[in-house]
Amino acid sequence: MKTIIFTLTLACVFLSMQITAQDNHMMRQVPAVKRAIAVITPTKGNTVRGTVTFEQTEKGVRVVASLTGLKHGKHGFHIHEFGDISSEDGSSAGGHFNPMGMPHSMPTSKKRHAGDMGNIEADENGNAHLDYIDPIMKLDGDHSIIGHAVIVHEKEDDFKTQPTGNAGPRAGYGVIGIAK
Ligand code: CU
Ligand code: ZN
Repeated sequence: MKTIIFTLTLACVFLSMQITAQDNHMMRQVPAVKRAIAVITPTKGNTVRGTVTFEQTEKGVRVVASLTGLKHGKHGFHIHEFGDISSEDGSSAGGHFNPMGMPHSMPTSKKRHAGDMGNIEADENGNAHLDYIDPIMKLDGDHSIIGHAVIVHEKEDDFKTQPTGNAGPRAGYGVIGIAK
């Protein structure tokens, strides 16, 4: 008899633990991120400013960048690993965001850093616009870009030099946050 009661008690404890675990799991579920934004400010000695928005679509994440204050020409444009823009030169943002251990490449490559957005080109007035759909980057899950940083470089990304694209110093930066 004692054995039966003991077994039943154990079963009850086990069951309640399972229910608690399930409740915790359900409470942790958050709605999917549909939109994100990085507000770009200049590193020391530079003047670039603007916004980069990320929006989930059926084909991938639509990236729309609108920047001012750039030098005329192409500028390497990446998501870097750390959302830490505390350094004056942008070095605290680390290297390219690369959760899948891929080589550096262009945004149209299958094998590339998740953060490789290619180049953004500024006109004679220093204004730059970019609008494309990225099939690799994610707004949710283990490889989410949320909390990482957008970096705008002074020079053009050559899509060859590993692992940076040889895009030179960092002209501007912004942390990617969840948007409405
Ligand atoms: Cu970069
Ligand atoms: Zn890269």
